[in-house]
Amino acid sequence: MSDRETWSEDDSQKFMELSDLVVPSREEQARLICDLIPAEPGEHFMGVDIGCGEGKLSKAILERYAEAQMTLLDGSESMLTRAAENLGEYAYQIDLRAFDLFQTDWLDELPRRFRCIVSSLAIHHLDDAGKRALFARLFEHLAPGGALLIADLVHPPTEQVADAWANEWDRDVREQSLARTGSLHAFELFQDGWNHYRTPDVEFDMPSLLSDQLRWLEEIGFTGIGCFWLRAGHAVYGGYKP
Ligand SMILES: C[S@@+](CC[C@H](N)C(=O)[O-])C[C@H]1O[C@@H](n2cnc3c(N)ncnc32)[C@H](O)[C@@H]1O
Repeated sequence: MSDRETWSEDDSQKFMELSDLVVPSREEQARLICDLIPAEPGEHFMGVDIGCGEGKLSKAILERYAEAQMTLLDGSESMLTRAAENLGEYAYQIDLRAFDLFQTDWLDELPRRFRCIVSSLAIHHLDDAGKRALFARLFEHLAPGGALLIADLVHPPTEQVADAWANEWDRDVREQSLARTGSLHAFELFQDGWNHYRTPDVEFDMPSLLSDQLRWLEEIGFTGIGCFWLRAGHAVYGGYKP
């Protein structure tokens, strides 16, 4: 048994309560990922969402691509239950599965012809070696022309960048909290250790340098690699299988 700190149902409850307020520009990130998927709106294709949580990113994809078929993977029972509720209208287009990100058996059970593999705020729980190995396995599961598109925290290259991202994240959460709820309650909860760039929990959250991740993607054989968006240490990045 590994003694590594893992995501708990308590984490799921807190994240479901606060995610729209504490993740910078979530809808903008999801919209951009939809724009980057190599498909036409009416086309049938298969996608997978790794660490899908409540299924918000997959829902954005299904809203944009009416014929898409999404496999949603998560390790939290309450997240999968919520995802099933949130995606009720797409019940025939989704396949919800429990998985453990720290294992690899779930990859064996996935087909090898995905048009897109997406993931938001989950892969940073793997260390450098874990991410690189996962990217290599995911490459095998993409159809030619398919995309790996990730929205996640990335490691700051310097202390100064960490401070700048921490400040920017605080400002964003303060603004989002006020604009959407008329109060600073969510911002105050966020101050209790949520800002990774101010109080990193290095056993739990292991974002890697963006430059390293883009290099790994290139070494594995991805093309069209890039960071397509970045704010307060949250990046949207990825690449395409030739
Ligand atoms: C921060 S949430 C992000 C959820 C969703 N992708 C989003 O952006 O709203 C992280 C998700 O990863 C899942 N997760 C974390 N560690 C995991 C693991 N070892 N195996 C499977 N799922 C895990 C959690 O259950 C949670 O739903």
